[in-house]
Amino acid sequence: MTSEPTQTTVVSVDRPTDWWKSAVVYQIYPRSFADSNGDGTGDLPGIFSHLDYLAQLGVDVVWLSPVYASPMDDNGYDISDYQDVDPIFGTLEELDLLIAGLHQRGIKIVMDLVVNHTSDEHPWFIESRDPDSPKRDWYWWRPPRPGSEPGTEGAEPTNWESAFHGSAWQFDERSGEYYLHLFSAKQPDLNWENPEVRRAIYDMMKWWVDRGIDGFRMDVINLISKDELTDGEPPPGRTRVSCFSFTANGPRLDEFLSEMNAAVGLDARNLLTVGEMPGSTIETARRATDPANHELNMVFTFEHVSLDMVPGGSGKYDLVPLSLPALKKNLDEWQQALADVGWNSLYWDNHDQPRAVSRFGDDSPEHRENSAKTLGTVQHMHKGTPYIYQGEELGMTNSYFTAIEHYRDIEAINYHASAISLGLEVEAVLHSLSIKSRDNARTPMQWDDSSHAGFTDGIPWLPVNPNYVTINAAAAIEDPNSVFHHFRKLIELRHDHAVIVHGRFELLLPDHEQIWALTRSLDDQVLVMIANCSSEPASVPPEAIPALAGARVLLATHGDSTTLNLEPWESRIYLLG
Ligand code: NOJ
Repeated sequence: MTSEPTQTTVVSVDRPTDWWKSAVVYQIYPRSFADSNGDGTGDLPGIFSHLDYLAQLGVDVVWLSPVYASPMDDNGYDISDYQDVDPIFGTLEELDLLIAGLHQRGIKIVMDLVVNHTSDEHPWFIESRDPDSPKRDWYWWRPPRPGSEPGTEGAEPTNWESAFHGSAWQFDERSGEYYLHLFSAKQPDLNWENPEVRRAIYDMMKWWVDRGIDGFRMDVINLISKDELTDGEPPPGRTRVSCFSFTANGPRLDEFLSEMNAAVGLDARNLLTVGEMPGSTIETARRATDPANHELNMVFTFEHVSLDMVPGGSGKYDLVPLSLPALKKNLDEWQQALADVGWNSLYWDNHDQPRAVSRFGDDSPEHRENSAKTLGTVQHMHKGTPYIYQGEELGMTNSYFTAIEHYRDIEAINYHASAISLGLEVEAVLHSLSIKSRDNARTPMQWDDSSHAGFTDGIPWLPVNPNYVTINAAAAIEDPNSVFHHFRKLIELRHDHAVIVHGRFELLLPDHEQIWALTRSLDDQVLVMIANCSSEPASVPPEAIPALAGARVLLATHGDSTTLNLEPWESRIYLLG
């Protein structure tokens, strides 16, 4: 199935100013992409064997989720050595080959940078466990709450809930103190207030840049500047409060980001920088992406992926139906806010989100392909850099697991335990998980219709979605009307038409319950997109969009019709002028 890479050649690539504005990024979650050695887990040689697939799709950049040494408590987002590859994925030499292989095909590579926290098995943290160590202050150590019995419920320094459920503080017997972990107890938070910590991180980043990478996707980077470590007011029926309200967008965030930019030479070397920022607001994003501030190129906002949960509820598992006008309005707000300064990133899903077609489209056999294509069209016609998550270009769907034993994700497993302990109905918990769990996105990539979808010769670490028999890359490549070829054409359009990259954005019909319509304008060119984002037919009111007489259809899901009656999930892109 796979061919082993054998030659290392350093291939340098051009990075002109703002090159990332016309780029399309493809995210690889290495554990689930392709397994070369039959151990059931994806690896670097597996990725290498599919580089021509990426070249055929036409993407400009690969964002590689973490492949660093890790105990894998959170699938590699818990790093024990930033400058080595975990043996489960391969070796540093194989990573060099991958970088060269991508560059040879004109594809750049962006590495995941996880520096809000390390693994508790990182040598820095191991040293820091000793209260007398010079690295004690590299992490957030705090004594128990005054007057409490150390290590007992309620003795934690603050009443913060970690993102993975349970307290955000872990008691350490040896020193009688707690350390802060906003994620799992095996992911202690680094103390960015300490300049030595920051220096060590910048040095590590420079080492990667010198190795030939083209940028960084920065994991939860807006959590690095902690505000006051104080108690919050828990919501009714809860004893703890989400840690994010105290740690997101902290007071020194902009200072740390610009310091990092200067120290590593991020802008000077035209690297792509995208900050993952849960809880970021338009104001924080404007500051962070204003080129004058030299912080980041773009951020991942979470607003549009928070619209299908109860506002102020207990988290992502409190489900509410998604409203199309609300979704359009949210994206439009970000478009307007970053029209004069900064830049948007555009995404529907990633390794932390359910599959796009299952969440925002309709994954029934009747509508799956057209809704996957139309979602792609809508995403790629907004202004910003589009991110495709592996398998999105095939219209891969949620796995909809039915039992807790099917899950591997620590967050899902912890949520299940904590929700049951709070008295929630088991069936309701499993239902929410089947819709929202991160494992929906993490089932193996579906390459062909052979056993385990051609992902592995062994037993996959997470079961392959049984629909691989029909939904797979080999079938999609053969079919000129597939979701794959639709995405390929969207990428091609971006490369061919400056209006898609730079054109001014305007949303039309904001309140329409089915139609998503927009224009992009640059000089005398106007691009019009109309999309029926529903599983019922819909009509576009002619007076609501520019006249289409003489317009050229650039891409359509159902053929080049000029009628304004659209089939379910039909979309078209026109060019006027
Ligand atoms: C965000 C990452 O995308 C997610 O997968 C991870 O669990 C957390 N940050 C913690 O690193």
